[in-house]
Amino acid sequence: MPKKDTANKVKPHTEAKLQFYTRYLERYLEILLRAGPVEKINIYDMFCGEGVYSDGKTGSAVRAVDAIWKAESSNERCKPINLHLNDLDGRKIDKLRACLDSRMSEDKKFRISYSSYEAFSLLAELSNLFEKQDRKVRNLVFIDPYGYKAIQRDVLEGILINGKTEVIIFLPIEQMYRFRNKTIDEVVEKSYQPLKEFVGQFDLDVSSISSEKEFIQAFTQALAFSKTLFTTSYAIKNHTGHYYGMFFITPNLLGLEKIIEVKWGLDSQQGEEFSGHNQNDFFLESEKKNSLEKQLEQFLQGSSKTNIELYGFVLSLGFLPKHANEIFRRWQNGSVLDVYDLVKNKAARKGAFKLNYKDSQSGKPLFKFSLN
Ligand SMILES: C[S@@+](CC[C@H](N)C(=O)[O-])C[C@H]1O[C@@H](n2cnc3c(N)ncnc32)[C@H](O)[C@@H]1O
Repeated sequence: MPKKDTANKVKPHTEAKLQFYTRYLERYLEILLRAGPVEKINIYDMFCGEGVYSDGKTGSAVRAVDAIWKAESSNERCKPINLHLNDLDGRKIDKLRACLDSRMSEDKKFRISYSSYEAFSLLAELSNLFEKQDRKVRNLVFIDPYGYKAIQRDVLEGILINGKTEVIIFLPIEQMYRFRNKTIDEVVEKSYQPLKEFVGQFDLDVSSISSEKEFIQAFTQALAFSKTLFTTSYAIKNHTGHYYGMFFITPNLLGLEKIIEVKWGLDSQQGEEFSGHNQNDFFLESEKKNSLEKQLEQFLQGSSKTNIELYGFVLSLGFLPKHANEIFRRWQNGSVLDVYDLVKNKAARKGAFKLNYKDSQSGKPLFKFSLN
């Protein structure tokens, strides 16, 4: 098939990207529409495209409109929501506006705004705005460029520092990985200069990276900005076997839990990768779960841990509380694990572990876990 016929179609890896973004958006809105302390929600799609692909499938902007409408119509509490759509190409914005005008109706309460700026210049301005925002506002920023060249670390840090913003970034990894070693020397060829700058900004140790997935891991860690934020990623493989990375950054553990739910919803065996097929591989699934068991064992060896520490630890490994609870139940049945109720000063009720966001927020540990 000639290239131009496939160029503007939603390929499986594009569909995986859009699913990741919209599934999170749905969860994000569901929680924030119910959360008492939040009064306004802003969603920014910084590289939004024109809305509909040549095969008739919809892109991130149209899918976000559908997700917001779904959340609004299934929630009694209505809060101001603004979807801001930006693309450097003004013609795409015109097409998108025409497409969305026809989809809007009076019963849809949310607003849509548009702009046509270079995304990171606009984000630099937004970081000033976010700084002055009321503490009851929340922002979700989706960054979906063609490549890595537009990404600026300082600007990203600027929009994240306020503690009210979460970011999703989609990046192609193949070229960055392939040419990583071309960036090591002090002076590099002109064509590798942008990659050198990218690697330098995020302080990536490219000499220790030996696969595209390791590149994704290294960038995920760099996005934690010296461990002040929580990050995770989802690897997306295309039909040629090369990877794209979906990166998520949040100041909030509940945000991290929700994106990990999305990852396990998309990949029920490992919660980490789209590989173009959904064949069940029991070996992969049990290997992944065994890795959690080993890491929990190491974490608890030597000293007891609280429910708060364990909740954060399990999420940091890309697992959900239900995965740890399954292991803890088995350990309890085998009398390997003791769970002590610190409030009632006695052994906790069997099967209760309190690994959840609400109980982690009080700051006061409720349960203590120790290995026998
Ligand atoms: C990968 S496409 C986005 C696809 C879109 N998110 C979707 O799901 O349909 C990247 C878009 O970014 C736009 N673009 C390229 N460079 C840009 C920049 N520096 N700032 C903002 N938009 C840019 C392009 O016009 C293009 O529409």
